[in-house]
Amino acid sequence: MARTWRSRLRFREPWPLHHPHYYRCYYQFPADLVMLCWLIMMAFLLVEVAGVEASVSSEGCLPREKDALLHYKAAIRDPSARLSSWQEAQGDDCCAWTGVVCYNKTGRVRVAELNLGITNPYQDDNWWETALRGELLHPSLLSLTHLHTLNLSFNDFEGSQIPPLVGSLHKLSYLDLSWSNLSGTIPPHLGNLTNLRHLDLSGPKL
Ligand SMILES: *[C@@H]1O[C@H](CO)[C@@H](O)[C@H](O)[C@H]1NC(C)=O
Ligand SMILES: *[C@@H]1O[C@H](CO)[C@@H](O)[C@H](O)[C@H]1NC(C)=O
Ligand SMILES: *[C@@H]1O[C@H](CO)[C@@H](O)[C@H](O)[C@H]1NC(C)=O
Ligand SMILES: *[C@@H]1O[C@H](CO)[C@@H](O)[C@H](O)[C@H]1NC(C)=O
Repeated sequence: MARTWRSRLRFREPWPLHHPHYYRCYYQFPADLVMLCWLIMMAFLLVEVAGVEASVSSEGCLPREKDALLHYKAAIRDPSARLSSWQEAQGDDCCAWTGVVCYNKTGRVRVAELNLGITNPYQDDNWWETALRGELLHPSLLSLTHLHTLNLSFNDFEGSQIPPLVGSLHKLSYLDLSWSNLSGTIPPHLGNLTNLRHLDLSGPKL
């Protein structure tokens, strides 16, 4: 560290090191930098804290996103009524619905996660009967423009292929389509998901 400062000082202060200004400069200059680092750290901390607070918000979903979720529900089959909390009711907040998580970043509430995987497939022998079925990657999901996590594991795509529209869910970081009765080829559109950090397509060996 000290060596770095010294080599910098060479440009500002006359050499040799024991020049009378050297010590003054050495102690003043880093103090400003420490202050600056401190301010930057505080700023990051504030942003982090705001972000965490935001993610626990539980009301105020956008009508547009609520409609998208209702369209989604209407487009798939839910034989065991797992999505019974997804209701049209006036003033109903879709952020409180089963499997829906909203983030409230910078004061804007957006649906950010859809966790529709079955919670305990290994402890429930009848889990297959409670699977959501059909076009589970339905175009209505495209209206959820801040969707970050999509978990459809242990549901039933009924042997269909992953549709190319998956590549348009461009905010996705987590995509879990494991054990969901998909088949066929993986569309190259998946490569458009540049924010993707976790992808699970596991399933039975065929
Ligand atoms: C979202 O955050 C903003 C600003 O932080 C706050 O005023 C607002 O009440 C929050 N909305 C919800 C629904 O929590
Ligand atoms: C998706 O949901 C399943 C079942 O609830 C869970 O085991 C799995 O960890 C989830 N995947 C991710 C990426 O969180
Ligand atoms: C998967 O989808 C096919 C086609 O609809 C169906 O016949 C089958 O029962 C489904 N489930 C499993 C576990 O393969
Ligand atoms: C995504 O990728 C596919 C194939 O790799 C490409 O044809 C398409 O133009 C890309 N863009 C979008 C928005 O899907």
